[in-house]
Amino acid sequence: MLPRERHNILGRAPAPTPLVSARDVSKYFMLHETLLARYLAGAKDRTVKAVDGVSLDVYPGETLSLVGESGCGKSTLGRTIVGLYEPTSGHVMFDGRPISGPEAMPRASLRRQAQIIFQNPYSSLNPRHTVRQILGVALAARGVPAREREAETIALLRRVGLSADHIDRYPHQFSGGQRQRIGVARALAMHPRFVVADEPLSSLDVSVQAQIINLLQGLQEELGLAYLFITHDLRVVYHISHRVAVMYLGQVVEVAPTDELFENPLHPYTQALLSAIPSIERHRRRQRIMLDGTVPTPIDPPQGCRFHPRCPRRTDRCEVEAPEFRQVSGIAVAGARAAAEVGTGAGTAREAETRTEAGTMPQGHFVRCHLAFA
Ligand SMILES: Nc1ncnc2c1ncn2[C@@H]1O[C@H](COP(=O)(O)OP(=O)(O)O)[C@@H](O)[C@H]1O
Ligand code: SF4
Ligand SMILES: [Mg+2]
Repeated sequence: MLPRERHNILGRAPAPTPLVSARDVSKYFMLHETLLARYLAGAKDRTVKAVDGVSLDVYPGETLSLVGESGCGKSTLGRTIVGLYEPTSGHVMFDGRPISGPEAMPRASLRRQAQIIFQNPYSSLNPRHTVRQILGVALAARGVPAREREAETIALLRRVGLSADHIDRYPHQFSGGQRQRIGVARALAMHPRFVVADEPLSSLDVSVQAQIINLLQGLQEELGLAYLFITHDLRVVYHISHRVAVMYLGQVVEVAPTDELFENPLHPYTQALLSAIPSIERHRRRQRIMLDGTVPTPIDPPQGCRFHPRCPRRTDRCEVEAPEFRQVSGIAVAGARAAAEVGTGAGTAREAETRTEAGTMPQGHFVRCHLAFA
């Protein structure tokens, strides 16, 4: 069962100043070859461009979902914007302050305010520590005196739907859903303002998934948290997100408010992703768009538009010229035209104009595709 309508979750529009701002952020990993491979096969070290030139804002109190195929760089981006990875280039600002470099905000302050919940609640909790110890570490890091930690731990357990009896148990004594609740409690122990939830549902049963979603949404309402919610489940995305960012091969290719993205996806990759899910409520069923070609590797991404080897709409230009990531100018007309061109339908230009006049797109619609600006 899916949770309540997302419009009831927040109860207010996201504030206009971003809490987190990534600007042209890249994160590369070096893959080092062994000496033998270098000597025998002339192998060279290779660079994995896991995240490559991403700009993204997250607003206080909003849920921004991040979607895309496995390996496209979602986790790397999430880790980079909470400071677990140093960006190779570009910068991340938290509440207006850089999180790395000479002017960086204090590490401890960032750690407290920006937390991450991991995909696998079992491997992310120390199996030799009890809940008391696991949460105690987080509370100590926040400066809670030792004598107050037990009461705080119990309050946290209750807040995530567990009880005081659980305090001296070890992770293996809990179910998957309960362990994920402990992961949430550990993140909350820091009193964060921003939480990256990295596929927090993927190891859980559907009924437990709904409970965790409700928990996260309740906490957002109560505490005004901002989430970057990483998932591949587009139905969940539809129900919980205020905005959605779509990633492909290390880059964000489209960002839009959720309704706008589902009704009027402009990037052919987004269109293909959405065509693969059964129609959602008001949104029309789309014809399934099958992508050909294999997923290229981020070690040697294609020239021009990275999506061009698989794009059903590619032109000669796409093979040589990389599209910029831009806000769709004159959004209604350009959007309707681009969508009509790719044949998955955003309605007529007139319908789209009406939507724009009604001001339904406060954060704008950004896309990385030549078509949208044709
Ligand atoms: N620590 C690392 N060292 C080398 N390559 C990595 C590392 N972490 C991720 N990658 C590579 O970076 C790319 C993006 O990975 P990831 O961010 O985990 O993607 P996603 O979360 O979207 O599945 C993948 O090709 C992955 O193999
Ligand atoms: S720029 Fe070209 S190849 Fe890339 S998504 Fe747009 S139409 Fe397809
Ligand atoms: Mg991941």
